[in-house]
Amino acid sequence: MSRSITIAKAGLPPGPKGTLIGGNAAQMGPRRVDFFLDLAQTYGPVASFRVGRWRVFLVSDPELIQQVLVTDARHYIKHFGARAFKPILGNGLVTSEGDFWLSQRRMMQPSFLKALVLSYAPIMAELTTAMLAEWSPGKAVDLEFEFSGLTSAIALKTLFGLDDHGDRAKVDASLIETFDSLTARVDAPIRLPLWMPTLTNLRLRRAIANVKALVDGFIAQKRSRPLANDLLSTMIMAQREDGSRMSDQQLRDEAMTLYLAGYETTALTLTWSWYLLSQHPEAERRLADEWRRVLGGRSPNAEDLTALPYTSAVINEAMRLYPPVYAIGREAMTELELGGYRVKRGYTILMSQWVSHRDPKYFPKPEQFLPERWLDGLAARLPKFAYYPFGGGQRLCIGSHFATMEAMIVLATVGQKYKFTLAPDAVIDIKPQITMPPKFGMPATLELR
Ligand code: HEM
Repeated sequence: MSRSITIAKAGLPPGPKGTLIGGNAAQMGPRRVDFFLDLAQTYGPVASFRVGRWRVFLVSDPELIQQVLVTDARHYIKHFGARAFKPILGNGLVTSEGDFWLSQRRMMQPSFLKALVLSYAPIMAELTTAMLAEWSPGKAVDLEFEFSGLTSAIALKTLFGLDDHGDRAKVDASLIETFDSLTARVDAPIRLPLWMPTLTNLRLRRAIANVKALVDGFIAQKRSRPLANDLLSTMIMAQREDGSRMSDQQLRDEAMTLYLAGYETTALTLTWSWYLLSQHPEAERRLADEWRRVLGGRSPNAEDLTALPYTSAVINEAMRLYPPVYAIGREAMTELELGGYRVKRGYTILMSQWVSHRDPKYFPKPEQFLPERWLDGLAARLPKFAYYPFGGGQRLCIGSHFATMEAMIVLATVGQKYKFTLAPDAVIDIKPQITMPPKFGMPATLELR
């Protein structure tokens, strides 16, 4: 089918001048979100820059974002940054495309039906309580480390039914190695093909082989036992319309994808929520009041969640200011129009939650932590892509309800027992990579509430 496109504006959207070879890569710097925000504020809703050979449009108008993620979604694929994860995520949901992705998304969707997701609430509460049993007042902790351990345990239990601490430690160790090598690869100015026997490639290949062997072991174990209430079991049982099921390799790709897409993002939501609360005692007091009134000291169960509007508002506001996924990208597969400009085949469109979530048009006093802004139905009034911590359109995060429920349960279970005082010498900064962890961790001391 032929499409006619109308290009109103000649040339590229406005943007900063770059160097001949690297383009604007050097200006981007380690705090690349500042560069994005500056770009949007200086050049408007469509700005243009270049990273090496990649021409990038930064788009920050909700309607234009909707055009990319919804209306024209079929003409875009994931951008180069996301594709770099293929070696580990294979053909899982995050990295697959087209008809194959659609067929997999249909297979996986039932595993994330609301009732099934809600059935994981007790596991989330139990594992949080188990973490608290190892804490004591006065203890110095790193919040990111603690919450990553917890969300990893929750992911492994709900995904594979895994309780064993030894298994968990093995998965964590090989994943950290894989992730570190992959991040180094994504950020490297020159990316040599994975088959080349460089030191970094060999390290990465070994780490990937280790993770794959571990996950294959979990799948084999699961197949040899009665199926249970975990995501892997529901994925093993899932059928396509023709009755066929996922191969072991596909199960492995999907399982690794769910694990990697899910645990760190949720840990960061918790870490940044507690950071913001530690800086806003009045919000923390209001939160504690809500918990006292609704929960009276116990962990929330699935039915409690709608009775905790302030808890939900705090999490929304934390993901507004510190979106764990701070940007998503797409690559045009054909010539397209966007905001009156010509998008050539191969161009990258970048949409940054960090930027959109700071638009004063939708969020007055954008830099301020104001959970109250969510209490009077703001979410329903906003244009669809003014706030999108979980992306949107057909590639919307499949785990959004899972993550939101987990964040609420953990926040309320932890917060009824403890509060955190940031270490006096703590330096808090962001480190935007694939997700956005605190650059120097989040050192804090535990205090009984
Ligand atoms: C606060 C936590 C989370 C955040 C902020 C988050 C964010 C996102 C975003 C922005 C996308 C879209 C990426 C794109 O369009 O390029 C996405 C996709 C995805 N997320 Fe999440 N996520 C979170 C938790 C989870 C959890 C817990 C799971 C699994 C249990 C998960 C699984 C996935 C998968 C499989 C996709 C790909 C979906 C597809 O393309 O069909 N995420 N996530």
